[in-house]
Amino acid sequence: MESQALSQIEIPREQLMERVVALCKRRGFVYQSSEIYGGLNAVYDYGPYGVAMRRNIRNLWWRHVVELRDDVVGLEASILMNPEVWRASGHLANFTDPMADCLGECKKRWREDHLDDRTRCPECGGRLSPARQFNLMFKTFIGPVEEDANVVYLRPETAQGMFVDFKNVVNSMRVKVPFGIAQQGRAFRNEISPGNFIFRLREFEQMEMEFFCRPGTDEEWHRHWLAERQRWYVEVLGIAPERLRLRPHEKEELSHYSKATSDIEYDFPFGWGELEGVANRTDFDLGAHQKQSGQDLSYLDAESGERFLPYVIEPAAGVDRIMITALVDAYREESVRGETRVVLGLHPNLAPVQVAVLPLSKKESLIGCARDVQSLLRRRFRVEYDQTGGNIGRRYRRQDEIGTPYCVTVDFESLEDHAVTIRERDSMEQERVSIEALVGRLEERLD
Ligand code: GAP
Repeated sequence: MESQALSQIEIPREQLMERVVALCKRRGFVYQSSEIYGGLNAVYDYGPYGVAMRRNIRNLWWRHVVELRDDVVGLEASILMNPEVWRASGHLANFTDPMADCLGECKKRWREDHLDDRTRCPECGGRLSPARQFNLMFKTFIGPVEEDANVVYLRPETAQGMFVDFKNVVNSMRVKVPFGIAQQGRAFRNEISPGNFIFRLREFEQMEMEFFCRPGTDEEWHRHWLAERQRWYVEVLGIAPERLRLRPHEKEELSHYSKATSDIEYDFPFGWGELEGVANRTDFDLGAHQKQSGQDLSYLDAESGERFLPYVIEPAAGVDRIMITALVDAYREESVRGETRVVLGLHPNLAPVQVAVLPLSKKESLIGCARDVQSLLRRRFRVEYDQTGGNIGRRYRRQDEIGTPYCVTVDFESLEDHAVTIRERDSMEQERVSIEALVGRLEERLD
C-alpha cells in the first residue's frame, strides 16, 4: 500500500518547460523529427501516447463544434490549392513577418516585432539590419518543371478551404445562414523564429470553423463563439481557468481580413501565448474570392428573397498548442515518502490511457483473470494492459507520468473473491470493487 502522505514540490517556473519536454520524450509523447539525422528545426513527431492525446483533442473539438450542434458541418479540403486562392485571400501580399539579420558575430535572423530592442541582436549584441518583409508560405511546384507558372503553396491556414467551397456546401447540403463549416488539418508556415517546443512550428495542425451569418448579427455571434470556446477549454479539457485569459487585439495588430479578433491565451512558463484566435472576418474572404474568381458567392435567403454576402466569425485553434498547454497545465511533482512522484494530472477526456490493468504477478492464473478484466473494460474505455516486470509501485509511477486516471490491479485474492483494486492517480487511494461492478464504478468516477 502506498502512503497517502504526499506533498507538492514547487517547480521553478523557468524549469517547468524543460521537465515537460523531457517527459514527452521519455514517455513517448513527442520526438524531434528525423532525430537520427540531427532533426529538423521546428518540426516534431508524435509518439504513441502523443498520438492518442492528439486524437482526443481533435475528437473533443469535433464533438463540441460539429456533432453536438445542428448548425455546423464538416469539410476536408486539400493542402494544395489553386494559387489564385492565396492571391485573393491576401496571403501572397500580406502574409509576411518583418525579418532582421544580425550584422554582428552570430548572423542570426530575428522576427523584428518579437524584439524588445530592435536595433541590437539579443544573442551577440551586434547591429541589426533594417527589417525586410518575409512571406511565410512554403512554395513547391506542381508537375515536373520547376518554373514560376507551376508554383503552388502549402496552405498556411485551413480556413480558405471553407471559403472556396462555400457555394458547394450551400448547394449540396440543406444549410441555412447562420451556419458553420469546420475543418481540421495540417498547415505550414515558414516561421522566422519558431520555438518553445511545439508552440511555434513550421508544420502544425489547425482546427478551424467559419461561421457564416447575416451582416449585423456578426457581433452577437462573435460574443457567442468567444464564450463557447472558453467554456470548452475549462469544462471539456479541464484547463485551469486562472491560467487562461481573453486578449482583444489592438487595431494595428489586426490581420488584414479582421474587423475584431480576441485571442484565448494561456499563461505559459515563457509568458502569455495564443491558443486560439476568434476573429470577425466580415465578408472579406467571400468578397475577395467572388472578385478574383468572377463567380457569384452571394447567399439567397429563401424566406426574405434577399441576397447578401454573409459575414464570418472564425474560431481558429491549433492542436499542437492545445497539447503543450494541457501538458504544462497538468505536470506536477510530489514528494511521497521521500521519493519524487511525477504526475500528469490530465483530464480523463484527454488522458491517452484511461484505465491501466495490472496483474500483480506473471502467474498464469492471474494473467488469465487480468486479460478478462482488460477485455471487459476496453469496450468502454481506453485501456492499457501492463504485466511487465518491476514491482507494482513502479508500474503505478509509469501510469502517473502518462496521466492515467485509474489503475486496476488484479491480485491472488481476485481469483477467490472476484474483486479487484481501483487505484486513483491523484489521491493514490485504493478501493476494492467486484469485477461485476467494475465498469459501472469506473464510469461513475470518470464521468
Ligand atoms: N485562419 C486564421 C488563422 O490561421 P492564426 O491565429 O494565424 O489564425 C490560428 O492561427 C491558430 O493556429 C493559432 O491560434 C495557433 O493555435 C495555431 N498556429 C498558428 N501558427 C502556428 C505555428 N507556427 N505553430 C503551431 N500552431 C500555430
